[in-house]
Amino acid sequence: MADDRMTFEATPTMDIETQDKVESAERAAENGNVGAALSRVDGPLKVTGQARYAADFAVPNPLYAHLVISTVGKGRITAIKDEAARKVKGVRAIYSHANKLDSGSAKFFAAGGQAQQSWEPFAEPDVRFYGETVGLVVAETILAAREAAAALSFDYETSDPAAVFGADGVERQDMPDKTITKGDFTSAFEAAPVKIASDYETAPNVHNAMELFATTAHWVGDKLTVYVPSQWVKGFQIGLAEELGIDEANIEIVCPFVGGGFGGKGSLFTWVSLIAAASRELGRPVKLYVTREQGFTTASFRAETRQRVRLGAGEDGRFQALEHAGEELTSRADNYFVNGQEATVRMYQADAIRTELATIHADRQTPGFMRAPAETPYFFGLESAVDEIARELSMDPVELRIKNDTMVDPVDGVPYTSRSLKECFRQGGEAFGWSNYTPEIGSMNEDEWLIGWGVATSTYPTQMSPCTVRIHLDVTGEARLQVASHDLGTGAYTVLTQAVAEELGIEPSQVRVELGDSRLPPGTIAGGSITTASNVSAIMIACERIRNRLGIEKGSDTDLAAAFDRFGQAGIEEYAEWTPPGAKKDAPKTLYNGKVKIVGGPEEDYTAFAFGAIFSEVRINKYTREIRVPRMTGAFAAGRIMNAKTAKSQYLGGMVWGIGHALHEVAEVDPRTGAYMNDNISEYLVPVNADVPNMDAIIVPEVDDKVNPAGVKGIGEIGIVGVAASIANAVHHATGKRLRRIPIRLDDLV
Ligand code: MOS
Repeated sequence: MADDRMTFEATPTMDIETQDKVESAERAAENGNVGAALSRVDGPLKVTGQARYAADFAVPNPLYAHLVISTVGKGRITAIKDEAARKVKGVRAIYSHANKLDSGSAKFFAAGGQAQQSWEPFAEPDVRFYGETVGLVVAETILAAREAAAALSFDYETSDPAAVFGADGVERQDMPDKTITKGDFTSAFEAAPVKIASDYETAPNVHNAMELFATTAHWVGDKLTVYVPSQWVKGFQIGLAEELGIDEANIEIVCPFVGGGFGGKGSLFTWVSLIAAASRELGRPVKLYVTREQGFTTASFRAETRQRVRLGAGEDGRFQALEHAGEELTSRADNYFVNGQEATVRMYQADAIRTELATIHADRQTPGFMRAPAETPYFFGLESAVDEIARELSMDPVELRIKNDTMVDPVDGVPYTSRSLKECFRQGGEAFGWSNYTPEIGSMNEDEWLIGWGVATSTYPTQMSPCTVRIHLDVTGEARLQVASHDLGTGAYTVLTQAVAEELGIEPSQVRVELGDSRLPPGTIAGGSITTASNVSAIMIACERIRNRLGIEKGSDTDLAAAFDRFGQAGIEEYAEWTPPGAKKDAPKTLYNGKVKIVGGPEEDYTAFAFGAIFSEVRINKYTREIRVPRMTGAFAAGRIMNAKTAKSQYLGGMVWGIGHALHEVAEVDPRTGAYMNDNISEYLVPVNADVPNMDAIIVPEVDDKVNPAGVKGIGEIGIVGVAASIANAVHHATGKRLRRIPIRLDDLV
C-alpha cells in the first residue's frame, strides 16, 4: 500500500474553468512583474497523502490524551469526582488543578511573548470562561482517554458570566493612547454639508481550519520533539522552553505542513506544555487530538466588534471629516485588540480624522489573529459608511472612492511606496461590468430575484519581519533552502522555490525547500502577510553571496560546473540575515529570542499598503429572502507577484471567506453561560462550493521598488478585506435595507 503510494506519479489535470483562470494568470504574467503560474511543488505530496501534518507523525508506543473543558462560564471548581474515570481500563493519569503538571506559563503574545493567553492552565481552581481546559486525561488508547474524560465530573461554585457586549459586569478599557487625530474632527464634521453617522457590528468568528489542532510530545532523554500545527515553530520552541523550565536547545518543534493557519496557529496553545509535561512525567510519548468542538474555546478566535463611523463630505464628494471608533471584546485577563482604525483612516484623503478604541473585558477566552485581523471587521464599517454617504451625495460609489484616493498617507502626509487603487477599480469594474450599474434601489431586479451590486475597497499594510535563511548550492545545480518559516497551504514552498531558482539561475525542479522546523535558521512567523516579502529579501542576499563567490552573474547563462571548478569545491553554502527597512540592524537576533518584530504599515517613515477593489452581485429571492452571491470580482495590486497561480488562489480564498464573514459565520454565544451554541461545522456555517458560483480575482500589475528588495507587498490577507461591505452594499442596492450588522441573514430581510 505504502509502496504504491510512494511510486504514484500525480498527473495534473484541470477542469476547464481552472484552466481558464490559469491562462488568464499567464496573460498577467506577460504583463510583467508577475511570476510564472507554477503549480505547487508540494501538490503531489498532498494529493497522494504523503505530506505529513502534525498529527500524522508516528511515535513509538504513545499514550493518548484528551482535554476536559469547563461546562460553566464562570466560577470555581469545588470537587473533582474521578472514581469512575479512574476505573476505565487503560487510564494512566488524570491532571487538573488538583493534580498539576510540572509546567509554567510563557508570556502572552500581544505582550511580546509567544502564548495565546497570559495565564497558566491548572494554576488555580478558577474557571474563566465556558470551555476552558480544566482537565487532561491520559490513557493507552484514544477511546479510553475519551471515555474517562466523559466519566470525569466536576462540581463548580458558579456565578453569572458577563460574556457578551452589554452584559452586566463587563469592564470597558479605553485606550486614548491609540487615538489618531488630524485636524479638528468635531468642527469639521459639524461644518460638512453632507454627512452620515452609523453604528456597525461584526460577529465573533471561530477558526475552523481543515486541520484540527493536535500535539504530540516525544522525549528521548532530555531532548523533546513536539509535532504541533504552528505558524511559528521558533516562537513555540522558545515559549515552550520557558513553560517547561528547560533549555530551548533541547526542544525541536516540527511542522512541515499546515492544513490552514489563518492566525489560529500563530501563538502557542495552552495545551502544548501540558502534553509535553505529561509525557515527561509518564515516560512515554503523548498524543493529543483536540476535537472540533473543543477548538472553539481552547484556541483563539476573532472577537466581535461594535463600531461607529461618522463621515462628512463636501457637495463635491471630497471627505472633510472621518471618525472611526471601535469597541472589541476581549478576555478578563488579556487586553487583546486589533485596532483596524489604523488602516481605515489611511484609506482615503480627509481633512480631519479621529479614531477611538476601547476593549470590553468579558468572561470569554482571549481572542487572537484571524485573516486580516484588524482590517476584516473594520473595513465592514468604513466601506459600508462610504456607500451610505455615496447615497447621500447621489454619487457613484466607485467614482466617490476614486475622488478620495490619495497618494500620501492622510494622517501624516508620508507618500505611499506605490498605490494602484484607481487601476484596481478600473480593471475590476471593467471585468465585472460596472458600467451597466444603475443606482436606483431595486432597478436591476429580475423576476423573483432582487438584484443588487455593491463595491468596496480593500487594503492590507505591507509588513515585513527580519528573516534568516541558509542556502546550499552544489556542482550539479541542486540547491536547498532552509528556513523556519511556514507554508500554511498558501504556496510558500512554491514561491520560495521560484525565488531561489531565479536568483541562482537554475530550474525550480532543482530546488528543495525545507520549512517548518525550529532547528532551521529562524524565519518569519507566518502571519501578517509577511512571509514572501521577508523570505525572498533574505534569499536574495544569500544568493547574491553565492553568485559572488562563484563569480557568476544573475540572469546570465552560466556554466555552473565550470564555475564550481574555478571555485575549487563541489558545494557552497551561505547563511544570510535580512533586516527590513526601518528596523534596527540587529533585528534578526530577535528571531532567535522568539520575538516577533514586524515592521511596516503606518508606524514607519514610509507608508506601504497593497490595495484592491471588490465588486459583488447579490440576488435575494423576493419570496423566501434567500441571499445568494452569484458573482464577485476582486482586483488587487500588491507589488511583485511571485506566482500568478498561487496568488490567485490566495485572493480567491480570501474572497470566499469574505462571503462567510458577510453571510454565514457567527459563533453564537449563549449570554447565560458564555457557551458557543454552534460549536461544530454543521451549525457554524462557512461557504461551500454552492455558495460561490462565479468568482474571479484579477492581478493588477504593479512595480514597487521602494517597499523591500523583493518588491513584494504580501497577499495572504487582503482578499477578505472589504468583501463583507461590498455584499452589504449590494444588499442595500437590491432591497433598500441598510444592514449594519454581519452576518446578514435571511431574517434581516423579512
Ligand atoms: Mo495571519 S491572521 O496574521 O496568520
